[in-house]
Amino acid sequence: MLDKSPKPTAVNVPNDLAAHWMPFTANRAFKKNPRLLAGAKDMHYFTVDGRKIIDAAAGMWCCNAGHGRSQIAEAIGKQAAALDYAPPFQFGIPQAFELASRIADLAPKGLDHVFFCNSGSEAADTALKIALAYHQTQGQGTRTRLIGRERGYHGVGFGGTSVGGIVNNRKMFGTLLAGVDHLPHTYDRDKQAFTKGEPEYGAHFADELERLVNLHGASTIAAVIVEPMAGSTGVLPAPKGYLKRLREITQKHGILLIFDEVITGYGRLGFAFAAERYGVLPDMLTFAKGITNGAAPMGGVLVRDTIHDAFMNGPEHMVELTHGYTYSAHPIACAAALATLDIYRDEKLFERANKLEPKFADAVMSLRNEPNVVDIRTVGLTAGIDLASRPDMPGKRGFDGLNSAFHDNDLMLRVAGDTLALTPPLIVSEDQIGEIIAKVAKVIRAVA
Ligand SMILES: Cc1ncc(COP(=O)(O)O)c(C=O)c1O
Repeated sequence: MLDKSPKPTAVNVPNDLAAHWMPFTANRAFKKNPRLLAGAKDMHYFTVDGRKIIDAAAGMWCCNAGHGRSQIAEAIGKQAAALDYAPPFQFGIPQAFELASRIADLAPKGLDHVFFCNSGSEAADTALKIALAYHQTQGQGTRTRLIGRERGYHGVGFGGTSVGGIVNNRKMFGTLLAGVDHLPHTYDRDKQAFTKGEPEYGAHFADELERLVNLHGASTIAAVIVEPMAGSTGVLPAPKGYLKRLREITQKHGILLIFDEVITGYGRLGFAFAAERYGVLPDMLTFAKGITNGAAPMGGVLVRDTIHDAFMNGPEHMVELTHGYTYSAHPIACAAALATLDIYRDEKLFERANKLEPKFADAVMSLRNEPNVVDIRTVGLTAGIDLASRPDMPGKRGFDGLNSAFHDNDLMLRVAGDTLALTPPLIVSEDQIGEIIAKVAKVIRAVA
């Protein structure tokens, strides 16, 4: 059941916005024309001036159960009062163990251990470090090379930035990690445009891994990390058969396969994890965002038995993996996550997303004849709508769309360059999908 509590009251807005250097934000443009939020409930945000904005972005791919869920808020409040903080090194809280078991139960069989951290970036770096350390436990310390993919996003740590494939995120930060290589991305507009779900064309892009193996030698490669659906660069679903092929090739060469499911985890593609949708078992799987419905920072890495068990050697008083964070499995995040998983289960939200997928896809594809639309991709409850760039101003039409949506159409969406991304909470109704699409059409016309 959705909560029926009243809408939140307005908050004070400071006169001076200068001190806060905002992340991944065009700061000067924002501060001239701020997009300030004061509250949220179910499918909507409320602006500081009291407008109700429909959320077509689940915040930032986080709030799969919608906003302001009282069950989660109460769990957080209770936990803060009962045990605000506990050191996660050498001490534990029962909730962390319960949560790890519940996450492992949701995951494909074989991914049975969870290492907690606080974000998707930390999850990516944690998984990469576990991969390197694992090969050392196997006497294969030459396996140090990490392979990501063009147009991949794995957060902003040095590891995640290095395996990531977004030039603007990389080019300002020096040489990054040594010994990293990249697979090609899987998008070919000529062959894939306006596909619903996984494109037929493109499984062969996985074969590029064989080329990298031939170039570097399998004995130097530790792991490959990919998103089952690349979200941040505009919603690029994996081509049919691609992930299976990647699994076969990694397995053949003793290379670990890591799925970054920070976006695709917890129902976005109609399953608990995309690994289940695609019937492919990775060696590790990273998650964040939806695990707490966005209500508290948390991330983690699901790890296969064989990898975890390889560390459980040596003297028992010794730390097996010298890695972790002050806030790993923070009590408040654990409480938020447990309450969130209850909601996902009780409201069958993953199944709901699965059932809505065809209707959502049809609705989004109805935008194909709007001005400047050059491609639309959909998978699960996610869509990327590519708009042609304004001449000599890549990203400007998308940025104008973000503003038009927020200021003139009471709509929150995400933009990646000139791609509009729709990723509504999984509680979205069919009527609300219609409302979102009608608003997106207005936005596209406004920026024509
Ligand atoms: C696939 C993927 N990995 C990692 C991250 C980084 O997560 P965070 O911003 O929580 O560090 C993101 C964030 O959008 C993501 O989409």
